[in-house]
Amino acid sequence: MTLPTVLVADDDRSIRTVLTQALGRSGYQVRSTGNAATLWRWVEDGEGDLVITDVVMPDENGLDLIPRIKRIRPDLRVVVMSAQSTLMTAVKAAQRGAFEYLPKPFDLQELLAVVARALAAPAPRAPGPAEPRDADDQMPLIGRSPAMQEVYRTIARLSIADLTVMINGESGTGKELVARALHDYGKRRNGPFVAINMAAIPRELIESELFGHERGAFTGATNRSQGRFEQANGGTLFLDEIGDMPPEAQTRLLRVLQEGEFTSVGGRQPIKANVRIIAATHRDLRNSIRQGLFREDLFYRLNVVPIRLPALRERAEDIPLLARHFLERARDDGLPLKSLDMAAVDKLKQHNWPGNVRELENLMRRLAALCPNDLVGVDSVAAELADAAPPSSQAAAPGTPPDTLATAVERHIREFLAAHDDGMTASDIYDRVIAEVERPLIRLTLAATRGNQIKAASMLGLNRNTLRKKIRDLEIPVVRGLV
Ligand SMILES: Nc1ncnc2c1ncn2[C@@H]1O[C@H](COP(=O)(O)OP(=O)(O)OP(=O)(O)O)[C@@H](O)[C@H]1O
Ligand SMILES: [Mg+2]
Repeated sequence: MTLPTVLVADDDRSIRTVLTQALGRSGYQVRSTGNAATLWRWVEDGEGDLVITDVVMPDENGLDLIPRIKRIRPDLRVVVMSAQSTLMTAVKAAQRGAFEYLPKPFDLQELLAVVARALAAPAPRAPGPAEPRDADDQMPLIGRSPAMQEVYRTIARLSIADLTVMINGESGTGKELVARALHDYGKRRNGPFVAINMAAIPRELIESELFGHERGAFTGATNRSQGRFEQANGGTLFLDEIGDMPPEAQTRLLRVLQEGEFTSVGGRQPIKANVRIIAATHRDLRNSIRQGLFREDLFYRLNVVPIRLPALRERAEDIPLLARHFLERARDDGLPLKSLDMAAVDKLKQHNWPGNVRELENLMRRLAALCPNDLVGVDSVAAELADAAPPSSQAAAPGTPPDTLATAVERHIREFLAAHDDGMTASDIYDRVIAEVERPLIRLTLAATRGNQIKAASMLGLNRNTLRKKIRDLEIPVVRGLV
């Protein structure tokens, strides 16, 4: 049996040497070249079982070679490796039909695994859809850290597969940006992108927002209204902050995903749902499931392809690039162009970034607007970071246990007592503090039961009449559920 032959093209001699040795040791035959023309000749001559090619070579771009290779030898797998490790390289490689994309520097074990997979994989399908327009100019996502490379590779793979995605990451890590990139580089890019934020809509309106309502479906529904599912028809529906979706809406969404159709609130006619779902949350949904706040079956429906966005503190090496990007953006908006000196950049890299990329973006904008010098020094950065920091009692260092109810109450009581330090004039602290706790407790329990006082009383373990009296005394507004 002849051993599989791997054709390697890279203008960097050391990479050719390393690959030839590693592949040779694993039992492959290897031919290597430093230019695209030789690689092309070998392919034309019917040589090789697999191609590994660099992108930038002296005579031709490796990515441009892929469609030509696919035309004459559709079964020949191509693995692309590149030091230009941006989202666009990954997407282009996938869309032109590369089997896999490896950002440099890569791990040899990983490369060998990819080679084995490529040679074992069944015959490739037809090439993907046409490429996105003006691909090179707009780079929606900045960062070259390994964690971001992983994100790019997933986005690239998904550009030819229309799967449901769940994006998880802290606030400000770029979840919405990734959702848009998935749409813009995906199969449905010519369809609409519709976003809905579960945390921003009153819970009793969520179902009507999602699925629409008929005229007269509830008080105030004076006209038929289209829901987001219908608006997103043929495109992508982005369910932001999915972890905040109320239970009834979760049940309804699950049914729609299972059945592929939905009915509007108050409507009877089922409507086909032709949407791709991308969901995002900053919450740990597995934890929410354990607490009974999120349906496990819905989670598995949505978590087909998980994407985890790293916190900015986990990819400090991206900070200089991001900072420059945001300073340039500020310049494009008419502010003076600033740059950072090395100490300033170091300071940024050491910061904890609880607000992630959004926090960095805001900081760069403030510096562009306020800093008198063109070259921003470490002192200006330190001053801005200190100004923007939340009060120290609330700043959560990484690894700090989350605020418990007791510590939050304790903090407030301390502040309260400190404020009444001047001779202790207050005489009803006990009742006032208890009311502070009781009011949100009752209000939120009522909201969770959609205003059903009987249910709320039983959840709270209170007598119905006691609850009614408290609602009156605490002046809690009573709203009945709509649907
Ligand atoms: N990799 C990135 N490159 C460039 N800009 C980024 C990147 N990640 C995030 N941003 C910018 O940071 C800001 C926050 O991003 P985005 O709104 O997508 O975050 P998010 O994860 O949805 O946050 P939240 O959970 O608070 O809604 C946006 O202005 C976005 O453009
Ligand atoms: Mg968001």
